Amino acid sequence: MFSQKGFGHFRSFSSFFFFIIAVLCITLSSLSNGGGLNAVPPSPIKSVNLGGWLVTEGWIKPSLFDGIPNKDFLDGTGLQLKSVTTNKYLCAESGGGTTIVANRIFPSGWETFKLWRIDEASFNFRVFNKQFVGINVNGTGASVVAVANSPGITETFQIVRNPNNTSLVRIRASNGLFLQAKSEVLVTADHPGGTGWRNDDPSVFVVSISGQLKGEFQVTNGYGPQRAPQVMRDHWKTFIVEEDFRWMSANGLNGVRIPVGWWIASDPTPPPPYVGGSLQALDSAFSWAQKYGLKVIINLHAAPGSQNGFEHSASRDGSLEWGSTNSNIQQTVAVIEFLAARYARSPNLYAVELINEPLAPGVSLDSLKSYYSAGYAAVRRHSSTAFVIMSNRLSSDPTELLPLATRLSGSVIDVHYYNLFSGVFVGMSVQQNINFVYTNRTADLNKITTTNGPLIFVGEWVAEWLVIGASKEDYQRFAKAQQEVYGRATFGWAYWTLKNVQNHWSLQWMINNGYIKL
Ligand SMILES: *[C@@H]1O[C@H](CO)[C@@H](O)[C@H](O)[C@H]1NC(C)=O
Ligand SMILES: *[C@@H]1O[C@H](CO)[C@@H](O)[C@H](O)[C@H]1NC(C)=O
Ligand SMILES: *[C@@H]1O[C@H](CO)[C@@H](O)[C@H](O)[C@H]1NC(C)=O
Ligand SMILES: *[C@@H]1O[C@H](CO)[C@@H](O)[C@H](O)[C@H]1NC(C)=O
Repeated sequence: MFSQKGFGHFRSFSSFFFFIIAVLCITLSSLSNGGGLNAVPPSPIKSVNLGGWLVTEGWIKPSLFDGIPNKDFLDGTGLQLKSVTTNKYLCAESGGGTTIVANRIFPSGWETFKLWRIDEASFNFRVFNKQFVGINVNGTGASVVAVANSPGITETFQIVRNPNNTSLVRIRASNGLFLQAKSEVLVTADHPGGTGWRNDDPSVFVVSISGQLKGEFQVTNGYGPQRAPQVMRDHWKTFIVEEDFRWMSANGLNGVRIPVGWWIASDPTPPPPYVGGSLQALDSAFSWAQKYGLKVIINLHAAPGSQNGFEHSASRDGSLEWGSTNSNIQQTVAVIEFLAARYARSPNLYAVELINEPLAPGVSLDSLKSYYSAGYAAVRRHSSTAFVIMSNRLSSDPTELLPLATRLSGSVIDVHYYNLFSGVFVGMSVQQNINFVYTNRTADLNKITTTNGPLIFVGEWVAEWLVIGASKEDYQRFAKAQQEVYGRATFGWAYWTLKNVQNHWSLQWMINNGYIKL
């Protein structure tokens, strides 16, 4: 495009000279920015994740949930309900699709009801096969069934707790009457309530919580549309600040991996319950990164429908629905396109990670590969230099993406190495954990590192393990082993995470307290 205009376009020699300098600078910066695709980056990145910032994870900052009214009952909370009269658990017979009974001795999947929160008092109950509990208005006697595929008025219930003993509840149906276990095989919504909390009352149930999610859906829907916007904006403004970027840079880090959620692309008015403002926070991160010389990896941590069912992908109730339809794949490509378009011109955009931790077999390899091809193309429409990172599926063959990634230049495979979350690590000693890093993780990395293949990124690791009572020196050795081995990953590594109430999961704490030195 310059050649057509010729030198006459430049009014003087000096402007031509500055033009040449500018072109050189752009060329050099694009080279150091990943540049020649397939080129090895100047040096593997040492970075840290900003976990729990723009995608909520309750365990990272529990206090974020403190102000939620009735906060035991969030979206995705699993309730098990034992009738005080049958002394047995409510159960969605066959896992759903038919009646609710009250005859099970041990609670498991069919006896677990996942909440969808309407407001602090009103809920839908989702059963194992994903139907919603409702009252059967067709029949006589208001029997209770789990047949609806989407919740309406007859699937909405209020949970009334005994103020003197919150493990005792009554459940009021949309007809104003309460559920009762008339017998082990007949549950109806026709009890008037108001009869005290005696244990011969068929409308009283003992509730226990079998699991909870504390992600972005839960926190925003928990606070509700009136309060959530302020709570989230305060969190974004205070949890990560400019000083953190200065600190990262001063402590030997040269990059930052920033998890974002799909709703960021519709800022400032994302679909409820999500609230606007995370995009502005990401803009700030880019400007601070530029000021302190850090490379930014944008990481789509939460995709529409959830790609793994975990709270960190903003799953509403533990379901994994991403990739099951073309439409949520297209929607996700549009999110990537939006992010790539917005930040492609930032000199600090280093890489875009298309999705975090898709889980096999819920996410099929075919859907994932078609998404990765389309997501890669979306990034390339805006940037020829940003690396494109593809996360391996959890619990699958770590080499499965190599053929695809090898064809797409400038692509990177992300693997996450935790000495946790697997029975393999139960009972391992300090030295066994360290040996595992040196031997097995080295072998894992070698297996996926190929000539002319994608670069390899250990996008998450932590100096935490299942060892109980380890000393500071044990932690130091463990961290050092991981730095050494993951330092050989061709793209580099990122610690999980910068800040966390659990000290070993906070790189800031680990460095400030002398556990880790870069
Ligand atoms: C009530 O009947 C309608 C029409 O047959 C049916 O679609 C619906 O699922 C029924 N509702 C329940 C709760 O069984
Ligand atoms: C709770 O306990 C107080 C004091 O014993 C009693 O007066 C009140 O009726 C109880 N409330 C319920 C709902 O049982
Ligand atoms: C509350 O109710 C449960 C279930 O009946 C019972 O096990 C527990 O002891 C009660 N707690 C109190 C404080 O009364
Ligand atoms: C680690 O690698 C060694 C050597 O190949 C192997 O014998 C061992 O089973 C591996 N450990 C685990 C837990 O997979």
